[in-house]
Amino acid sequence: MQILRSGSQCTPFQGGTLVPTMGALHAGHSSLIRRAAARGAPVIATVFVNPTQFGPGEDFDRYPRTFDADVALAEAAGADAMFAPAPEEIYPRGLETARHEAARITLPEVARTPALEDACRPGHFAGVCQVVARLFELTRPRAACFGEKDFQQLRLIEELAAHPEIALGCPGGIEIVRCPTVREHDGLAMSSRNRYLTEGQREQALGLYRALQSCMAAQRIATAELLMRGTLEEHGLEIEYATIRRAADLLPAADFHEPTRALIAARLGPVRLIDNMACPIWR
Ligand code: PAJ
Repeated sequence: MQILRSGSQCTPFQGGTLVPTMGALHAGHSSLIRRAAARGAPVIATVFVNPTQFGPGEDFDRYPRTFDADVALAEAAGADAMFAPAPEEIYPRGLETARHEAARITLPEVARTPALEDACRPGHFAGVCQVVARLFELTRPRAACFGEKDFQQLRLIEELAAHPEIALGCPGGIEIVRCPTVREHDGLAMSSRNRYLTEGQREQALGLYRALQSCMAAQRIATAELLMRGTLEEHGLEIEYATIRRAADLLPAADFHEPTRALIAARLGPVRLIDNMACPIWR
């Protein structure tokens, strides 16, 4: 596997399948790389902890950086190249300019729905949009894999790929491949941020999965949301949101007759965790 540091080094891999990450790779990331490799085209995994998607006071500085292990994991999963650029490669006009540019991006509606990620992490999705557009521009993939673990982000990227004019320089015609969430044996969704958890918090964190499970048999949206909140509170989790939304536009769902998604964000002290699950549509 080749390590690439500049956009020009990516040229031989154009037309391949991209797997963007922020590193601290785990089995969830490997599943994306394996999915990409199964398509047959060359696979570029990227590792870049993107400063513009972190808000003030968030965990940019302490975000786990485990480059050697990431290289080994990406290679074992079937990546042909690992693109790990320096910030100057992604933001040649400097970070301050990049932050100003991010602030001017008009996000698609699916990223701006009330009381979800955008409300909790203002500016986050503009940074995601900006870096993904730049990674697409430098690597020119035919397809890119994203995880359902970050469901609103996935929907945002799907919109970005469908409407490349949203973010300057984002090339069109890129197929976005949805990849299912990989979980630990007990159901906890894998996340680079799980490394922050103490043993006791690890048990509490299971509350997110249990909350998603607890709402699946509910017949009504309000009941489902109450059940989720109850389970999260039982686990001592601080709820940011626990809600059922329409899967397509993430707006509030009236009932379970159309595809819906249960979405949760909760805090355990300084650690913020998210998870989501499709609700059965047969009710
Ligand atoms: P990161 O959190 O490293 O995630 C990289 C990709 O892995 C995302 O598409 C995410 O949804 C997916 N992923 C994470 N945990 C997963 C799991 N348990 N199962 C399946 N897929 C999982 O998301 C980002 O980085 C960044 O915002 C990025 C898109 C790279 C832009 O900086």
